[in-house]
Amino acid sequence: MKPVKVGLLGLGTVGTGVVRIVEGHQEDLQSQVGSPISISKILVKDRAKQRGVSVDSAKLTEDPWEIVRDPEIDIVIEVMGGIDSTKEYLLEALERGKHVVTANKDLMALHGQEILAKAAEKGCDVFYEASVAGGIPIIRTLIEGFSSDRITKIMGIVNGTTNYILTKMSQEGAAYADVLKEAQALGYAEADPTSDVEGLDAARKMAILSTLGFRANVALDDVDVKGISSVTQEDIRYARQLGYELKLLGIAERQDDYISVGVQPTMVKKSHPIAAVNGVFNAVYVYGEAVGETMFYGPGAGEMPTATSVVADLVAVAKNSKLGVNGRQATLAYKEKKLKTDEQ
Ligand code: NAP
Ligand code: HSE
Repeated sequence: MKPVKVGLLGLGTVGTGVVRIVEGHQEDLQSQVGSPISISKILVKDRAKQRGVSVDSAKLTEDPWEIVRDPEIDIVIEVMGGIDSTKEYLLEALERGKHVVTANKDLMALHGQEILAKAAEKGCDVFYEASVAGGIPIIRTLIEGFSSDRITKIMGIVNGTTNYILTKMSQEGAAYADVLKEAQALGYAEADPTSDVEGLDAARKMAILSTLGFRANVALDDVDVKGISSVTQEDIRYARQLGYELKLLGIAERQDDYISVGVQPTMVKKSHPIAAVNGVFNAVYVYGEAVGETMFYGPGAGEMPTATSVVADLVAVAKNSKLGVNGRQATLAYKEKKLKTDEQ
C-alpha cells in the first residue's frame, strides 16, 4: 500500500510529539486513513542536536526547500514557527499541490487569508487546529459545529503559559519570573515569551477565533491587547479577597453587525466555570443565539496535547485525499467586519 508521505518542518516541542503519535498510533491512523503514514523528511536548524525521539538521521535536513520541493511529499506539517520565511515555504508547498497542516497562529492570524486563498486556488487543504488552544478542537467546532448558529460571544483563556503563571502566583505565591522559566522549560512558552506575557499570542488566537466564529475578517490590529507582565501578587490577592480570580481573558463580542475583540487581565467571579481553569489548561466559552451557552476545556499547550491536534489534522487531510475532496474547507472569504467604537 502506497504510504502518505509527510514532510515535517520542525522537530522541537510539537514536532517531537507529532513523531511520537505518528509512530505510536500508526496502526490506528492507518486504519482511519487507509494507508500507512510515513514522515519522510524533517527540517531542523541543527542536525547534531540531541532529540527527544529517535529519528533516522538520514531524514533530517537543514534545508526547507528540500522538503517543500520534494515531489514525493504529499503533506507538509509546519511546526517550526516564524512568519515571513515560513509563509514563503508554505505558499511554495501549496503552489506545488501539497497540503499543509500548521500550528502557527502568528502566521495564520497575519496571513491566513492569503494562505487559504492559495490553497483554494490549488485545490489543497490547509488545516490549523493546533494554532488555537492546543489540544481543544475549537477550530473545527467553530467551522462545523456552529455552522447552523449565529455566535454573539467568544470568551476564553487561550494562552497556557500565562494561565500557568497566574495560577502558580495565585495558588502558591510563586514569583512571576520563576514560573515563566518553568513554563519555558515545560515547552509551553513561545520562542520569544514576550508574545505570551504581553498578550500578543492570545490576541492572535482571538483574531482567528472571531474570524471563524463571526464569519468576518477580523485582523490582529483589530484586537485591543494588554498582557500580564505588570500583574502583581497584590492584584491577585485583592481579586481573591473580593471573590474573583484574575485571568488573562480574550473577549470577542458581536452586537448587531459590530464586533469588538480584546485581550486583558480580567477579574472573573469565582462562581464562573472559567475561574476554575488552572495551570496550562485553556477554556473557550461560546455563546450562540440558538444553542445558548457552551464551553470547551482542555490542555492549551505542550508537546502531546498540541501534537494531538496536529495529527488529527493530518488524518483529516489524508482522508480528504482518499475521497478526492481536498480544498473544499471554507476559506476565509468572509465579509469585512465593522468594529465597535466607544460611541456605539
Ligand atoms: P520549538 O520547540 O522551538 O521547535 C521549533 C523547531 O523548528 C525546532 O526543531 C527547530 O530546529 C526548527 N526550526 C526553527 N526555525 C528553523 C529554521 N529557520 N530552519 C530550520 N529549522 C528550524 O517550537 P514549538 O514549541 O514546537 O512550536 C512550534 C510551532 O507550534 C510554533 O509556531 C508555535 O507557536 C506553535 N505551537 C506551539 C505550542 C506549544 O505548546 N509549544 C502549542 C501550539 C502551537 P532545532 O530543533 O534544530 O532548533
Ligand atoms: N505559547 C502558547 C501558549 C502555546 O502558552 O498558549 C500554545 O499555543
